[in-house]
Amino acid sequence: NLDGVTLADLTRAATWRVVEPVFDANRQKHRETIFTHGNGYLATRGTFEERYPGDSQATLVHGMWDDVPVSFTELANAPDWAALEVWVNGTRFDMQTGVVRDYARSLDLRTGILHRRLVWEPVPGQAVELVFERFASLADEHVLAGRVQMTPLVGEAEVKVRALLDAHVENQGILHWNPVSQNVGAEGADLVVRTRKTGKTLALSAKVNSYVVGTSTGAEAPTTNGEGVDCPGCVGVIVRGKVGTGETFGVEKVMGVFSSRDTATPLEAAQDRVRAAAEAGFERLRQDHVRAWEDFWAGSDVVIEGDDEAQLAVRHGLFQLRIAAPTHDPHTSMGAKTLSGFGYRGHIFWDNEIFVLPFFTFTQPEIARNMLMYRFHSLPGARRKAAGNGFEGAQFPWESAETGDEVTPTWVPHFADPTKLVRIWTGDIQIHISADVVYAMHQFWQVTGDDRFWAEVGVPVLLETAVFWGTRAEEEGTSAEPDVTRFAIRDVIGPDENHDHVDNNQFTNFMIRWHLQLALEMLPWLAARDPARAAQLTAELKLTPERLAHWRRVIDGLIILHDPETGMIEQFEGFYGLKDVDWGAYAGRTKSMQELLGIEGCAEHKALKQADVVALLCLLGEQFDEKTWRANWDYYVPITDHEYGSSLGPSMHAWAACRMGQPEEAYQHFMRAARADLLDVRGNAGDGIHAASAGGLWEAVVFGLAGLRVREGEVSVKPNLPAHWKKVGFWVTVRGVRRWVEVGGGWGEEEKRRKGEKEKRGKGEEGKRRVSEVLGFVECRLVQCYT
Ligand code: BGC
Repeated sequence: NLDGVTLADLTRAATWRVVEPVFDANRQKHRETIFTHGNGYLATRGTFEERYPGDSQATLVHGMWDDVPVSFTELANAPDWAALEVWVNGTRFDMQTGVVRDYARSLDLRTGILHRRLVWEPVPGQAVELVFERFASLADEHVLAGRVQMTPLVGEAEVKVRALLDAHVENQGILHWNPVSQNVGAEGADLVVRTRKTGKTLALSAKVNSYVVGTSTGAEAPTTNGEGVDCPGCVGVIVRGKVGTGETFGVEKVMGVFSSRDTATPLEAAQDRVRAAAEAGFERLRQDHVRAWEDFWAGSDVVIEGDDEAQLAVRHGLFQLRIAAPTHDPHTSMGAKTLSGFGYRGHIFWDNEIFVLPFFTFTQPEIARNMLMYRFHSLPGARRKAAGNGFEGAQFPWESAETGDEVTPTWVPHFADPTKLVRIWTGDIQIHISADVVYAMHQFWQVTGDDRFWAEVGVPVLLETAVFWGTRAEEEGTSAEPDVTRFAIRDVIGPDENHDHVDNNQFTNFMIRWHLQLALEMLPWLAARDPARAAQLTAELKLTPERLAHWRRVIDGLIILHDPETGMIEQFEGFYGLKDVDWGAYAGRTKSMQELLGIEGCAEHKALKQADVVALLCLLGEQFDEKTWRANWDYYVPITDHEYGSSLGPSMHAWAACRMGQPEEAYQHFMRAARADLLDVRGNAGDGIHAASAGGLWEAVVFGLAGLRVREGEVSVKPNLPAHWKKVGFWVTVRGVRRWVEVGGGWGEEEKRRKGEKEKRGKGEEGKRRVSEVLGFVECRLVQCYT
């Protein structure tokens, strides 16, 4: 059953579809994550409609925070909307009962539809084809839809389906909902629930439609007989019918969903929406949804020719980012595990600004703006954090949720022995996040040219966080240079979390210096554009001449451990004195260096969890000369835990390797990131998609392999593709102009042949020409598509 699929689709399918060809009960936690689907309002893990004990069913809705012990707050797992329980001839459908064959489940990244087809024989001699489909509409984020179609392949089948909305869900053992109200009718049901601590209401309203298709050989029209499910917290409609061989019995469930964050009357809104959706019908909803996905890809796709695995991984990553990015909501942003699992409880980290946002900034600036506005709206929490620590201005939290207050847990169970607790210091002292947020806002301004955003949102955040840095910098007497006061940033954690409580982490210090310089440049910029606003900020933030002079002194005197002779940047004070690791002795390891050496042991060694100085080079690369790049790359890359350290590492190393002109090495790092979720190489994909890794793949392709740069609105590329990548193409929207950028640099068969021929021709005039012709293979094309 090709279901309207053309041959061309099939040949391209490998790079558009994630397929599970066999059902494997033991791998479901991973599969549920990678089959997560959604629409930017919510996302739902790829659990099965019929539900199994031990599955990790979850729908996470943006902004539906509820309190939890220790971790402060988490996104409450919403009622299960996907549930469709099926009985055939009295036997409940369950893939562990009877025989399952011709199974295939796939997530179509182009259309955002989760699809499953299989043949089930509950008892020998009875075979039924079952096709499930479901999606959260990208065209209307308040609409959800699911369908099951059952076709007996032999004999007749009496079919029963229970289409449910079920609030008996949990966040790994924690319950978040109190039931508020429920209704059950002949063709639909409503369920309203409220979070236990924060009092946020969520309403779901479902309508169920059933039908029979095919020549009638004794089919009975499906009937609901007014029968329904009406248990506390669980409602639904029961549909029964009878179909003969080759006839299809279908049950469609469409739903409206609204929360008290959207409207004062979420139930009414959900009922209205589902009424309209049911009138439009499942097929129409599906078409609108598919069209919305087409629009997304038409501005966001990345094409990699010559490497289907890389291609699929990038598309899957972008798909996962899109479904977790708030389309219309400027009060929320993306957690480190997107909306696809319970890992990190939905909390938002620097992952978002440094790894995820560039993709949206360059392709979907409206969405990027929402995510940046979230930080603006969370300034009150950031102010409280700064004040609580005895500083002025705004200090963004390491882990952020609804209010911008710090929500990093202080203690968590030890990974090796959960009966012991480990103190987590990141919430106290991983402070570079305040500069990272500004970095993302500044990048947004540079790429979009949105002066209004920069004036109204970016510069105020820049200045208020600069006030924080000015008070956080510790004055330590005069430095070697006369008239320069030394400033230190002591007791921090840099991006490399294997080393905590360090002094003058250079990623942090360089970012602070960049931040303060930008603040000093932008205050006059704002004064020229909007004098009243500049005056207001100057008054509110007490940007006195003394304070600005203080910032200048911090810029001049901040401890920078960059040796001009060698180019080396010492990651933090004393790093060079740490013990060396005999990396050879750990060859073939399957654990992180931190697990192997212990938390304290690792801190004593030169073993990095992830890029730190190398991350600095990627972000502020233009400040650094070739010598600095080379020296630090050569020094830090061999002492980084690429396989089992942070999932944020590989994509950044791929990007940096391209900058070093090492595309084959870049490819190794790139594939480590590409496999983090699809192949679960780190073993923790079950907790949710690694958002930073997914966004980092885009950065590695665009900034690294294609070498895209934007300077004052001008776009240039400097490709560095691995040999087997024939071509890379991607969309970027810069200053309102959408462009398709394509770089081709592969040594394909034809190129190899031509290169070989030229080499045979030898040196002399021919030889000289050869160089330019070979370079000619590195074809860079920039095509402006439309404005
Ligand atoms: C990484 C951090 C990251 C966090 C959330 C940690 O393991 O070291 O850089 O922000 O995970 O992804």
